[in-house]
Amino acid sequence: MKEELLKIKDEAKALIEKAEDLKSLEDLRVKFLGKKGDLTAILKMMGSLSAEERPVMGQLANEVREDIEALLKNKFDDLNALEREKRLDEETLDISIDKDLVSLGHEHPLIKVKEKLEDLFMRMGFKVIEGPEIETVENNFDLLNAPQDHPSRDMSDTFYIDKENLLRTQTSPVQIRAMKKYGAPLKMVSCGRTFRFDDVDNTHSPMFYQMEGLVVGENISLANLKFTIDQFVRELLGEKIQTRYRPHHFPFTEPSMEVDVTCHKCAGEGCEFCGGTGWSMELLGCGMVHPNVLRNCGIDPKKYSGFAFGFGVDRITMVSYGINDIRLLYENDQRFLDEF
Ligand code: DAH
Repeated sequence: MKEELLKIKDEAKALIEKAEDLKSLEDLRVKFLGKKGDLTAILKMMGSLSAEERPVMGQLANEVREDIEALLKNKFDDLNALEREKRLDEETLDISIDKDLVSLGHEHPLIKVKEKLEDLFMRMGFKVIEGPEIETVENNFDLLNAPQDHPSRDMSDTFYIDKENLLRTQTSPVQIRAMKKYGAPLKMVSCGRTFRFDDVDNTHSPMFYQMEGLVVGENISLANLKFTIDQFVRELLGEKIQTRYRPHHFPFTEPSMEVDVTCHKCAGEGCEFCGGTGWSMELLGCGMVHPNVLRNCGIDPKKYSGFAFGFGVDRITMVSYGINDIRLLYENDQRFLDEF
């Protein structure tokens, strides 16, 4: 039996060394170590040995098995490395072939600005909320305290879907949805598309982006409004920018204001761009939330007050990137978009 074991070992060694690929190596593993393999066949005969011989042969058989396993493992590693190398050689890419480059897309400039603004407000503790583009007349006008004869309700200004539904003319209805859903206290912004029956020229488009902000809480005052908006404007346009608050009217705020910022070209000195005034056109509208609006959303105006603001994101995008025609933002001309 000893001779047979040693013979198996020698035979295995010779055959494994000659194996040319992983498949024939696996066949050899089965031939020598498999359930019906040569070594197993010999082990089955152990029963016929004497009690003294059995442990000696047992040990030898184990050594032979370990030797064969080690031989198989070494050969496997060698063949594996060889096959991998061969495969890599065969798969080589010909990088000299001249192919058209596939251009990867990127975010639209408006979306870049939208995300920058949302990020800025999130860092100031605001919740970012989305609202639908198809709104109810109730949310878009009624609950925002717009009088029945307000000119913006007019058919010639608003895209009505039916008597009760329209394409939202502003992002302000998202305030209403947020107050009805979350109550007070609340700090939210919302940015999205709005629609108005506007003539198309280089600063007007029937679809444009707005951002809306709202803060409601106990003892919220005009000082909080001014601090927050000044902070936002400086973060957006730079430390040196100054603001100016002018009285205005919005149905949903009282008092209401428009905010101007110093001209981004001359920083307030006066230049041809700002007509020598040192101020840019209004940047945003804002005010203290009208008590009727709070009441309409189930918030007690005796306990809570708030401020709101809204502005056009297109304008900010145009100023940020030096774009002089709003239509470029919506035409999706690849040559224009590729510049960003
Ligand atoms: N919704 C206004 C508009 O479309 C913008 C606005 C002004 C929003 C004042 C506000 C605000 O929340 O307080 O012109």
